Amino acid sequence: MDGTARTAVTIVVPTFNEAGNVEELVRQVAEATAGLEAELVFVDDSTDGTPQVIETVAARTTALPVALLHREVPVGGLGGAVLEGVARARHDLVLVMDGDLQHPPAMIPVLVRTAAESGADLVVASRYTGTGDAGGLANGVRRMVSKGSTIVTRAMFPSRLAQCTDPMTGFFVLRRSTVETASLQPRGFKILLEIIARQRRKLRIVEEPFVFGERFAGESKATFRQGVDFLRQLVALRFGKMSGFALIGAFGAVLNIGLVAVLTAEHMGYLAASVLASALTIVTNFLLAERFVFRDLIAQARPRGQRFLASVSFNGIEAAVRVYATYLLVDRAGWNVVLTTAVTLAVAFLVRFSYHSLFVYAARETGRGAVPSVDRVVQDTAAPVRGPLAED
Ligand code: GDD
Ligand code: MN
Repeated sequence: MDGTARTAVTIVVPTFNEAGNVEELVRQVAEATAGLEAELVFVDDSTDGTPQVIETVAARTTALPVALLHREVPVGGLGGAVLEGVARARHDLVLVMDGDLQHPPAMIPVLVRTAAESGADLVVASRYTGTGDAGGLANGVRRMVSKGSTIVTRAMFPSRLAQCTDPMTGFFVLRRSTVETASLQPRGFKILLEIIARQRRKLRIVEEPFVFGERFAGESKATFRQGVDFLRQLVALRFGKMSGFALIGAFGAVLNIGLVAVLTAEHMGYLAASVLASALTIVTNFLLAERFVFRDLIAQARPRGQRFLASVSFNGIEAAVRVYATYLLVDRAGWNVVLTTAVTLAVAFLVRFSYHSLFVYAARETGRGAVPSVDRVVQDTAAPVRGPLAED
């Protein structure tokens, strides 16, 4: 050493049946952390020989201390493992990464240096910023699901995630002294989102792009079940905003039907009645969403007239696209009509919500990067650890 203090970092790697990856991972981590004071902690829930492999490799590794925390009871799955690793870390900066080399160890010094120099609470390795790339995701469908759920999630937390383009990544550095992790109760895969959403205050996040690589060995543990768990996590975190938006949409449908019934009963032609009812419903929905769903974003968003135009023009385009998609799915792909209608309506709802949250109510250019008002930060906080948010 040259007398200058080296930055210290604890590297936490959750593992579930990764026997074929441990040796190569440790080799690459050792190489990447040569200029750092690093320790490596595996938090293992494996049912195969992974813990034995880790112990063997740990015993002969001299470049950095390698510890194994094997859990007989895998509380909280991947997210729980990460938090147990964070809790037993010796250093203030804790880097979390996967054990299958999809997160390149060569990024470790970049992330740690950024954390040390920026003083940020979190440094996130993102697949969706700058030169980042999600190429290593198994197939096109997973890439689309990943991208789509990222957009919806960012729409649900427009302020909290303003600085985070990849809330689903499992590759990040957190500063233990400023990030509250002890009281979290994680379920499943998406621990970073849980960490960001449940803080009492808005974290300062800095990102570094990275390329999500191919697995070195073994298979992904991501399952359909985890997808469902993730949706439940989102709902639990953000019941208020999205369900309020859905409720207003449902109310609008009922209002529309009711108006048509009343107007035709008053002898108005059904076409005229339908146009008038739709127009009234659109205006009502807009006003209700302004008042009850996006109230906290209005102060920094574009003026009301522009919001109205942006919101209303969406309706026409959305309807046209949805009808065309229905035609393609039913006529060309042979889908069942009812199923198709359900799927297109559900997708349209998510697109509509994301569009409003991220575009119609986006902070104006002048306001971008400015410190959000206290009110907005508070409003953008997820439900506290127990129970949903009373009001949002
Ligand atoms: N301890 C523990 N317990 N580790 C687990 C568990 C578990 O129940 N389930 C998975 N892991 C470990 C795996 O061994 C691997 O090191 C890491 O968590 C990620 O699991 P993969 O099976 O490789 O997941 P992936 O490649 O599909 O998911 C990656 O991309 C996601 C975003 O698309 C991971 O980086 C996720 O963290 C990320 O959210
Ligand atoms: Mn993986």
